[in-house]
Amino acid sequence: MRFETAAIHSDGGPDPAYGAIVLPIYQTSTFVFEDVGKTKGYDYSRSGNPTRKALEDTIAVLEGGKAGFAFATGMAAETTVIHLLKQGEHVIAQQDLYGGTYRLFESVMKCFGLEFTFVNMGNRNEIEAAIKPNTRMIWIETISNPLLNVVDVDMVAGIARKHGLLTVADNTLPSPYLLRPLDHGIDLVVHSTTKYLNGHCDVVGGAVVTATDELSEKVQFLLNAMGTCASPFDCWLVLRGIKTLPVRMEQHNKNAMSVAAFLEKHPRVKRVYYPGLKSHPGYRFARKLMKGCGGMVSFEMKGRVRAVNSFLRNVKVFSLAESLGGIDSLAEHPATMSHASMPESFRVKVGITNDLIRLSIGLEHVDDLIEDLEQALKRA
Ligand SMILES: Cc1ncc(COP(=O)(O)O)c(C=O)c1O
Repeated sequence: MRFETAAIHSDGGPDPAYGAIVLPIYQTSTFVFEDVGKTKGYDYSRSGNPTRKALEDTIAVLEGGKAGFAFATGMAAETTVIHLLKQGEHVIAQQDLYGGTYRLFESVMKCFGLEFTFVNMGNRNEIEAAIKPNTRMIWIETISNPLLNVVDVDMVAGIARKHGLLTVADNTLPSPYLLRPLDHGIDLVVHSTTKYLNGHCDVVGGAVVTATDELSEKVQFLLNAMGTCASPFDCWLVLRGIKTLPVRMEQHNKNAMSVAAFLEKHPRVKRVYYPGLKSHPGYRFARKLMKGCGGMVSFEMKGRVRAVNSFLRNVKVFSLAESLGGIDSLAEHPATMSHASMPESFRVKVGITNDLIRLSIGLEHVDDLIEDLEQALKRA
């Protein structure tokens, strides 16, 4: 099946009970045994649930993996995956990561004896120089949040193979519609399904997709042992969102490209970050690896913090809010919002400056978006 068809038909439907074309929400904590030691496939919803399974199977098909797992949030998915490691082991992580991932590593997992080195994932020498005898994992964001760097997944998977390391790719920003990291040799994909997979700003969720049966067993064990799974209702919402992922992504790509081109020419704008622009360092890899450049655009304003605040106060179609990847266009200030948990010196060193604004370009008419940006930039 092609991607568009698989997005609609990978949920195992229609429902075997009554033929409902939309899978029901199995809102149940437990399942009655047929006999002692005999179930109909499920025993308790933490371990497994039919609505969750439909979502998990769909995400696994779309990412081209062995198995999928649905979690309560993207952070729950990440927390579960990092528990594949043991005390004393070392992770090489991308330096320009989502702030919550940085916080999980630096402020939580470090206390349990994991070690982290943050590197520029565009620099092979830097990655290889960071490898130590206790290194076990490389963690990347395929398109980074918020600088939108595009990682050469072939290069990272090659380094990992050579040194026997596990690779984890946070594929939230492109979604499997634009890029499938497992096809390039990555071992585990993580998602915040809160973003493009659900796409409607009405649920928080996460997912993991594995490349091997061995990893699938380990992730299922951790999900059940740690209780990080998603609820049936949230799974149902994400599953519904996924059915329109291809058409939404096409429109996000188009709208974001137009917004990026508009901002690049605007006199109040210092620099635009969008991998569809030739001026962006991710342009070459975006063309090589991806089916489009996605819906996120970041930019730096001239005039520093006062101008940034005024812009954010004056947008009208865009909303000042965290999150991304939904139908609604959102604007946010990474330094004080999504990346506030990074120490300022580290954040600025990796390029997430105080003047940076991140836009999640939604599915409104692009002329309304550009007119809104124009008026807010004029007043800033
Ligand atoms: C790239 C990326 N990964 C993971 C997360 C965490 O996901 P959640 O907010 O669903 O826990 C986010 C949230 O913004 C994100 O942008």
